[in-house]
Amino acid sequence: MTGNASDLESLCFNAMPMPVSSLEDYLESHSTPAGDVADAVERWAHLHTAQPQMVCGPYEGRLLSLLCRTVRPQCAVEVGSFVGYSTLLIATAMPPGGRLHTFEVNDERKETILRHLEQAQVSHAVDLHIGDALTLIPTLFEDNKRTIDFAFIDADKRSQQDYYDLLVPRMRPGALLLVDNALWGRKVLDLQHNHDRDTLTVHAFNEYVQHDARVENIMLDVRDGLLICSVL
Ligand SMILES: C[S@@+](CC[C@H](N)C(=O)[O-])C[C@H]1O[C@@H](n2cnc3c(N)ncnc32)[C@H](O)[C@@H]1O
Repeated sequence: MTGNASDLESLCFNAMPMPVSSLEDYLESHSTPAGDVADAVERWAHLHTAQPQMVCGPYEGRLLSLLCRTVRPQCAVEVGSFVGYSTLLIATAMPPGGRLHTFEVNDERKETILRHLEQAQVSHAVDLHIGDALTLIPTLFEDNKRTIDFAFIDADKRSQQDYYDLLVPRMRPGALLLVDNALWGRKVLDLQHNHDRDTLTVHAFNEYVQHDARVENIMLDVRDGLLICSVL
């Protein structure tokens, strides 16, 4: 590209701010798509569940799978499978022989999750545990053995710190721990007006992680806020 300095400067500074929806469209259209099965699972959630917005969606889902592919976990954990959307995206990025343990407390979701994993051809890589992750994780992973390489917490927000405190001592140094909904509909940005219990709990958890010497953390403005922690 040719041009004088002021042309180049104006190219840098004269861009008009874009509406957010255009930004999201642009970001998504320049990211690898989630894929046909994931799209179908998201559609299924919209048709058959009362809270389809619980699905993390293609953009965050693709980030999860990209990070998982980078870490190459032998052992990954997901808390909150719902209909298996994020589960299948993480599972597709697992290396050969790696296992993803996903936890879902609602037993009515079992058949749906298994069917969706089958459709995505990732059943072989996933252990679905139906029950409360808070009681199941200590029975499956020994404290301080540090065997988990990758984890995604996306369950009830009031127990976020409990999941986190169960997982961190079980994760190897360098492992990645991701926590969804860190911005809680951006309510955490204005605590004066948003002092409901859930907002305060999410904020208290964010503060807890910020002061936790066991991790290095970064919060991203991805969808509802994604907190990424590298375990030290
Ligand atoms: C936001 S949804 C998960 C969405 C999913 N990660 C996705 O992006 O497709 C949260 C799920 O966590 C489950 N859940 C809540 N508390 C749980 C617990 N203590 N143990 C396991 N699952 C739990 C809920 O039943 C719900 O299906």
